[in-house]
Amino acid sequence: MITRMETIQIAPSLLAADFARLGEEVAAAEAAGADLLHLDIMDGHFVPSITVGPLVVEAVRRVTALPLNVHLMITQPERYLANFAQAGADTLSVHVEACPDLYRTLCIIQELGVAPGVALNPATPVSSLQEVLPLVDFVLVMTVSPGFGGQPFIPSMIGKLRRLRALLSELGVRPAIGVDGGINVQTVPAVVAAGATTLIAGEAIFGASEGIGRAIARLRQAAAGAQKDSQPQIH
Ligand code: DX5
Ligand code: ZN
Repeated sequence: MITRMETIQIAPSLLAADFARLGEEVAAAEAAGADLLHLDIMDGHFVPSITVGPLVVEAVRRVTALPLNVHLMITQPERYLANFAQAGADTLSVHVEACPDLYRTLCIIQELGVAPGVALNPATPVSSLQEVLPLVDFVLVMTVSPGFGGQPFIPSMIGKLRRLRALLSELGVRPAIGVDGGINVQTVPAVVAAGATTLIAGEAIFGASEGIGRAIARLRQAAAGAQKDSQPQIH
């Protein structure tokens, strides 16, 4: 069987950007070839840190044409979905662990005209998504415990990505598969070979001494190499 070559998307995580120069950082990421931007919303309850809210999403929306992939690490996300939709989010990802009625929450996102995404903490099994996968455009596999940038990748998440891919093909649905946390040129080959399609990276892009453009190009190159290696040869 020949599997279709997935389009890999690179999503810089603004958490690692310099917030005093946010507009410039966004422009630099766009010029460097980012496919979308990842924005981390943390409330100090679901995760220990506090970051930004709809006001900053709206500010970013005004200075870029890139799709905004908004990662809600907040309790009771349903209270704020309309605010983030209005601020210009293109995708809203909620955590399974934060949603007592995940089905309803995803339907609300859809009704707001935004692409629904669902995120999984490292300890949450893929099976928790079984009943909602047909509803989502994006599955976000956390490859670190959420809350902070710059943490090391959790290797056992490779097996989880494979289990997710198997479940998706069993259900016959193809949402984009994001990985978030510790993504860099070392970890990209394994996550891409296991099925990841959206590579979210903070430190590896905004913290790169070689510059954002070169960092994105190297991530893309690492992903392309992994795709080539896992592709069956046609003679
Ligand atoms: C962590 C956030 C990530 C974070 C990743 O909770 O969800 O998006 O920015 O940062 P790096 O790529 O530095 O691990
Ligand atoms: Zn994130």
